Amino acid sequence: MFDLKGKTALVTGSTQGIGFEIARILASHGAKVYISGAESIEKCKRACEKIPGSVPVRANLLDTCDINKLYETTGDIDILVLNASIQYKRNWDEYSDEEYDIQMNCNVKSSYLLIKKYVTGMKKNRWGRIVTIGSVNQYNQHPNLSLYGVTKAAQAKMAQNFAPILAPYGITVNNIAPGAIETPRNEKAFNDVDFKKKVENLIPCGYIGKPEDISPAVLLLCCEEGRYITGAEIKIDGGMSL
Ligand SMILES: NC(=O)c1ccc[n+]([C@@H]2O[C@H](COP(=O)([O-])OP(=O)(O)OC[C@H]3O[C@@H](n4cnc5c(N)ncnc54)[C@H](OP(=O)(O)O)[C@@H]3O)[C@@H](O)[C@H]2O)c1
Repeated sequence: MFDLKGKTALVTGSTQGIGFEIARILASHGAKVYISGAESIEKCKRACEKIPGSVPVRANLLDTCDINKLYETTGDIDILVLNASIQYKRNWDEYSDEEYDIQMNCNVKSSYLLIKKYVTGMKKNRWGRIVTIGSVNQYNQHPNLSLYGVTKAAQAKMAQNFAPILAPYGITVNNIAPGAIETPRNEKAFNDVDFKKKVENLIPCGYIGKPEDISPAVLLLCCEEGRYITGAEIKIDGGMSL
C-alpha cells in the first residue's frame, strides 16, 4: 500500500512547514521529490539534506521565467503539489496594488501555469496527481485575511473545475484545506500565548495542528489507492471551518 516507487513529484514551497512534511512523506514512500522554494538554492539544499531521495530546485513562482526553468529542470513529473503561497494580513481595503498582484500571482496564477506545464506529460502517461493546498480561509471570513481567502477559494475552484476535464486521462485534481497549523509562517504569532489560546478556542478539536496532520491525506491522494478521489476538497482543520 502507498507505494510511490518510480514516481517523481514536485512540491512547491517545500523548504519548510507543511510543504516540507509533504515532500518528506512522499519521498519516504519511494518517490523522487523535487524540493522547491524562492529564497535560495542553499535553503532548498538544506531541506534536501533531511530527505533522502530529494532534489533541490530554486524557483520564484512570481517569475514566469523561473516557472519555465523549473519545468526544464524537472522535466515531466507524476505528482504536482501546489503548496507555496504568500499571505499578507491587512484590512480588506488596505492592500496595495503590488500586494494584490503578489498574492494572486503566487497563489493562483502560478498554480494555473504549473498545471498547464506539467499536465501534458501526465496526459501522455495517462497517470497524474495534482493537489492544491488551500486553507480554512477559503471558507471562513477572517477580517485580516480576506484577500488571501479569495486566492485560496480561486485555487480550490480551479482544482474542482479541472478535475472532470483531466479525469479521463487518469489524472486526479484535489484540494486540501488546512486549518491553523504550526509552521515557520506563524511561529511568531503562536509564541504569543494569549493569541494562541484565542485561536485554539476557535478549533473544536481544541489544539493547533502540525504539518504531520496534513501530509498523510496528501499521500493518499497521490498514491494508486487514491485513484477514485478527484475534485474533492478535504478540510483538515480540527473542525475550525464548521
Ligand atoms: N500554516 C498554517 O496555519 C496554514 C493554514 C492554512 C493553509 N496553509 C497553507 O499551507 C501552505 C504551506 O503553509 P506553511 O505555513 O507551511 O507556509 P510557510 O512556512 O510560510 O512556507 C511557505 C513556503 O512557500 C515558499 N514560497 C514562498 N513564496 C514563494 C514564491 N514566491 N515562490 C516559490 N516558493 C515560495 C517558501 O519557500 P522559501 O522560504 O524557500 O522561499 C516556503 O517553502 C500554504 O499554501 C498556506 O497558505 C497554512
